[in-house]
Amino acid sequence: MRVYIATDHAGFRIKELVKSLFEKRGYEVIDLGPDSSDRVDYPDYAKKVALSVSRDPSSQGVLICGTGIGMSIAANKISGIRAAEVHDWYTAKMARAHNDANILCFGERVVGEGVVESIVQAWCETSFEGGRHAQRVAKIAYLEKGEDNGD
Ligand code: RB5
Repeated sequence: MRVYIATDHAGFRIKELVKSLFEKRGYEVIDLGPDSSDRVDYPDYAKKVALSVSRDPSSQGVLICGTGIGMSIAANKISGIRAAEVHDWYTAKMARAHNDANILCFGERVVGEGVVESIVQAWCETSFEGGRHAQRVAKIAYLEKGEDNGD
């Protein structure tokens, strides 16, 4: 599994820990920046990860900013992206199990390192359940295309 990761300045400090948590589970981690904690604009980095994941559909992404909110809003503008802002083990697990989220977003200013470890664990160990959840995810794709699925 390949995972693309990026942050803004407010998520930069925790990036190396998150990379190591994925690498120790055998993921190929591709760091799309930034290379320092200099101030940057989160949509620029959300775009890099979201476009990479949309072009490499079997991959996943991780985006970290201060809250996780800006990164998730921006990433979800890209077709095929289901970016989930999570706060803990449970929301990370549900993002994968029910929403088939393909980009994990959280805020470095919101969660501590222990919670980040449990978030990554839940994300990596949970698969999409499919079934009724697949029908719902398909309805999101209709919305993305601007089509009406009739419901
Ligand atoms: C940067 O100050 C902060 O606004 C950003 O990291 C993020 O939290 C935006 O959603």
